[in-house]
Amino acid sequence: MARALKTRQKAEFGDFQTPIDMAREVCNLLSRRGLKPASVLEPTCGLGSFLVAALQRFDTVSRAVGVEINEGYVQAAMTALQGIAGPGRVEIRREDFFKVHWKDILESLSEPILIVGNPPWVTNAKLGTLGSSNLPNKSNFQYHRGIDAITGEGNFDISEWMLIKCLEWLIGRRGTVAMLCKTAVARKVLLHAWRFGLRLRRSDIYLIDAVKHFGTAVEACLLVVESSPSEKNLDCQVHNSLREEPPRGAFGFRENHLVADVRTYEHWKHLAGEERRKWRSGIKHDCSKVMELKEEQGIYRNGLGERVDLEGSYLYPMLKSADVANASEARVKRWMLVTQCTVGEDTHRIMHNAPRTWQYLLDHADLLDRRSSSIYRNRPRFSVFGVGDYSFAPWKVAISGLYKKLDFKVVGPHEGKPIVLDDTCYFLACQTKDEAELLARLLNSNVAKEFFSSLVFWDSKRPVTAALLRRLDLDAVAKELNPEASLEAYPRKPDRNSSEYGQLSLSLGL
Ligand SMILES: C[S@@+](CC[C@H](N)C(=O)[O-])C[C@H]1O[C@@H](n2cnc3c(N)ncnc32)[C@H](O)[C@@H]1O
Repeated sequence: MARALKTRQKAEFGDFQTPIDMAREVCNLLSRRGLKPASVLEPTCGLGSFLVAALQRFDTVSRAVGVEINEGYVQAAMTALQGIAGPGRVEIRREDFFKVHWKDILESLSEPILIVGNPPWVTNAKLGTLGSSNLPNKSNFQYHRGIDAITGEGNFDISEWMLIKCLEWLIGRRGTVAMLCKTAVARKVLLHAWRFGLRLRRSDIYLIDAVKHFGTAVEACLLVVESSPSEKNLDCQVHNSLREEPPRGAFGFRENHLVADVRTYEHWKHLAGEERRKWRSGIKHDCSKVMELKEEQGIYRNGLGERVDLEGSYLYPMLKSADVANASEARVKRWMLVTQCTVGEDTHRIMHNAPRTWQYLLDHADLLDRRSSSIYRNRPRFSVFGVGDYSFAPWKVAISGLYKKLDFKVVGPHEGKPIVLDDTCYFLACQTKDEAELLARLLNSNVAKEFFSSLVFWDSKRPVTAALLRRLDLDAVAKELNPEASLEAYPRKPDRNSSEYGQLSLSLGL
C-alpha cells in the first residue's frame, strides 16, 4: 500500500532526484564554461542536490533560493544545506511552482543569475490518468502567449512549461538556465524561445545517460541557455556528454523551423520550398478488427477470426507501414473495407450497392460505433477518414511514418485495383508507373536524403512526418540532379495529369 502510494507520488510529481555526483558534474561544467553566478534559483529543488553542489562550487553566490512542493523534501534539503550556506544565504520554500510569486523571488536575486535543476518528468496526459492537478491553472494556460505551441500538441511535458517560464524570467536580465530534461523537451523549449524572439546568447545540449543516472529509458540531456539583453543566437550546439569535448554538431532555427543539422541544412537549403505535390496520409478507420481482412488462398478473415464473404466493390488491397518499410517489394496480404470515396459521403448507399457488406457493417456496429476519436462524431455511420480521390490513385510513392528510415517505395495496382495505405503511411498519388518511378528516384536520391537528414531528429518518436516531407521542393531536386534539364514541362502543382513527369524523366536522364 505504502509502496503503491510512493509510486503514484513519484509519477504525479515526476520525481527523479538528481544524485549529488551528477549535480556536482553539472556545476563543474558550468564553472568550466566560466560561469560565476551571483545568485542561484532551483525552482523544484527536491532533496537539494543542485543547491548543495552550486553553493559548494560557486563562492560568488550571495543568495540561493529553492522551491519544492513536497514538505519532506524541503526538510531534507534544509538539513543537507546546513553548514554549507551561511545564515541568510539560502532560503527553501515549500510552495507549488504554479502558485509561487516568482516576480518577488526574481527581484531578490542579483545578476548573473543561475537557474539550475531538474524539473518534474511527467506529461499532462499522465497527470490526467492519475486525476492529478499538478499543472498550471487554466487561465495561465490560456493567456500565456506561447502556450498554444504546447497545448496544440495535446500532450506536453510539465517541464516544458516550467523551462519556458525559467527562460522568460531572464528576459532583459543576465543569467543562465541549466536544467536536466528530456532531449525532446529541450528542443521544444528552444523552438519556443527562438520563435518568440527571446534573446539567447548561447545554447548547448549535453547528452546524459538517463538509464544510468535515473533508471528511466528516455533520451535526456542537460540544457544550458545563456540569456542576453542584446544578442540573438539561433543555434544550439550538441555535446555527447558532460565532459569537455568538441560538440558533435548543432541544430537550430531557420526559416521559422527547427533544423536538425545546421551545417548540412545550409548546404542544401535551396531545396527547401513549396510542396509541389501534395503529401497525403493513408486511410484512417480505427477498427482494424472489422475493417481489415486477411486473405489466404481466396478466404478472407477479419481480425476477430471470422470468415468473411463480401462483395468486392468496397474492398481494396492494402499495405500497412511494416509492408511499406520492410519488404523490397511489398506483397499484399490484407484488404481494407473502404466505405466512402470522400470524407463525409453518405454510407447508406452501401445497403443497395453491396447488401452483404452493409449487413457485415451492421453485424459489427457495436465495435464501429464505439470508435472513440471525435472525428467520427456527427458523421455518417461507419465513416472512414483520410479518404479522397488520391486514395484510389493507381500508383503511389509511399513511405512509412513509423519507421526511422528514409525509403520511398513505388506502389502499383494489385489485381486491377489501386492499393490503399493505412494511416501510418504517407504518399504521393500518381497516375502512371513512370511518374511514380521518377518521383521515387527523386525522393530516394542522395540529394533528397541529405536534405531530409538535415531536418530529421532521429531520436523523436515519429521522425518522418508529413510536415517534414512537405519541406522538400521536388522541382529543385530534379534541377539539382541535372541542372541542364529543361524544367519547363515540370508542372507546378500537378494533380492528376502527370504525363509531363514521364517526359521529364527522359529529359533529365534520371
Ligand atoms: C525530477 S525531480 C528533481 C528534484 C531536484 N530538482 C533534483 O534535481 O534532484 C522533480 C521535483 O519536482 C518537485 N515538484 C513536482 N511538482 C512540483 C510543483 N508543482 N511545485 C514545486 N515542486 C514540484 C517534485 O517533488 C520533485 O522533487
